[in-house]
Amino acid sequence: MAAKILDGKAIALELRESIAEEIKSQVAKGNKAPGLAVILVGEDPASQVYVRNKKIACEKAGFVDVSMELPASTTQEELLARIDELNARDDVHGIIVQLPVPKHIDPEELIERIDPKKDVDGFHPYNMGRLATRMPVLAPCTPHGVMTMLAKTGIPLRGLNAVVVGASNIVGVPMTLELLNERATVTVCHSATKDLAKKVSEADIVVVGVGIPEMVKGDWIKDGAIVIDVGINRLEDGRLVGDVEYEVAKEKASWITPVPGGVGPMTIATLLQNTLQAAYEL
Ligand code: GUN
Repeated sequence: MAAKILDGKAIALELRESIAEEIKSQVAKGNKAPGLAVILVGEDPASQVYVRNKKIACEKAGFVDVSMELPASTTQEELLARIDELNARDDVHGIIVQLPVPKHIDPEELIERIDPKKDVDGFHPYNMGRLATRMPVLAPCTPHGVMTMLAKTGIPLRGLNAVVVGASNIVGVPMTLELLNERATVTVCHSATKDLAKKVSEADIVVVGVGIPEMVKGDWIKDGAIVIDVGINRLEDGRLVGDVEYEVAKEKASWITPVPGGVGPMTIATLLQNTLQAAYEL
């Protein structure tokens, strides 16, 4: 079977256009445009690219960008004070700290300091707890964006075997909770998992977010499975590849996300969706 492409770029564009429409109508009613603060600490080149893309998407959709780029020497106390200021501003509806942060910074303490109502990354223990108890409020952007893409396949997830490869707080764990909330049977695999190939080969849906180029081999994929590749890795020859061996996997899957142009654009669109929700309590 040759897979159909889950075109994240197109789905994200559609979502961003509907968000822009909603903002226009809120502003026409006299409400403020949503304000989003992305805090970037240091000069990690990949993070600089992500933050630039977030800012562009933010401004195009009619949000007010109140991002701050701070030097790598910024202290934990300074960052906590910045978050306190942003929490108190009524023109700021969403606050995120771009990860990773420099080694001397404790990201967990920063995340817990963000007002959960403004935690548009959905990483605060309050929001993770809401997701885990089937009462989601603001859900982490990448997994929630994946759910939006899965809905586009029209395939009900109830009862399907889902395998999530990677157990990070940003992707694997909230992805597991999202799939469980749709009544999939979920197996979570990580670096201590035995016989990963066998686990993946039994999956109707595979979601991979590990950050290792082409770690999941195409011939592990079950015929007709849905393959979601969260990874984006630059090889020495300059090529961008995912965490799944795409060329082989696409011959076996029913649906597959390309890299780039799959999950990546959905993360940003979902961040805007969360900020819209935080601003207008939708
Ligand atoms: N770094 C990689 N992905 C993310 C994300 O979704 N949010 C934040 N804040 N940092 C990230």
